[in-house]
Amino acid sequence: MSDLSAPVLTLDGPSATGKGTVAAEVARDCGWGLLDSGALYRAFAYIADRKGVVVQDDVAIRRLGNELDLKCSLGPGGTAVILWGDVTLADEIRTESVAERASYYAERPCVREALLQQQRSNRRLPGLVADGRDMGTRVFPDAKVKIFLTAAPEVRARRRYNQLNEKGINASLAAIEEAMRARDQRDEQREIAPMKAAADAVVIDTTQLEILEVVTKVKALLLCP
Ligand code: DC
Repeated sequence: MSDLSAPVLTLDGPSATGKGTVAAEVARDCGWGLLDSGALYRAFAYIADRKGVVVQDDVAIRRLGNELDLKCSLGPGGTAVILWGDVTLADEIRTESVAERASYYAERPCVREALLQQQRSNRRLPGLVADGRDMGTRVFPDAKVKIFLTAAPEVRARRRYNQLNEKGINASLAAIEEAMRARDQRDEQREIAPMKAAADAVVIDTTQLEILEVVTKVKALLLCP
């Protein structure tokens, strides 16, 4: 059950702008709940693929959406994990291939519909930090503070490349940048709830900023000490 009196901070924007890290740090510092909606879409895609539910099959997708109960929680590593019954989905939904699959499922209206209430049900006192693509435009249009993060594509690709390297995963910088641009295009151009800044969002370009600087700016907007 959601509590409409609970204030919401929305953080939207493309991947590797620092959204997830900023959201987790602000949630922790302010003592608010955290919703990583991208992780929900990733979990949906991961589970659908495992169950052999194809993207085009609206009936099977709707059935899966009705039976799935996914909860978002802060994992020990400081990033969000998804609880699927008694299964915790963490690293397995953080791969580039699951991200790509998620952006295809995210284009389907029935998937977005199925995940809408699950996202809104995270709204509880004392407040919620929600990050994604359509948090400020569609899921929480009455949010107290809305932020849209951007960064130059080359810088975002380099950040993702470094993250993968740190995990010991070999990747090509050029391939990452190309896949990122294609995914951005899908996210921006889909018909339903495309990625865009809400009219009342504050846009922050993180190209030249450290995470801590972004966290400080966001907390100041939220009036969180
Ligand atoms: O933020 P992320 O990289 O974990 O998101 C994975 C995919 O999920 C992204 O390509 C688009 C989709 N997504 C979405 O459509 N709406 C959201 N609110 C969050 C993610």
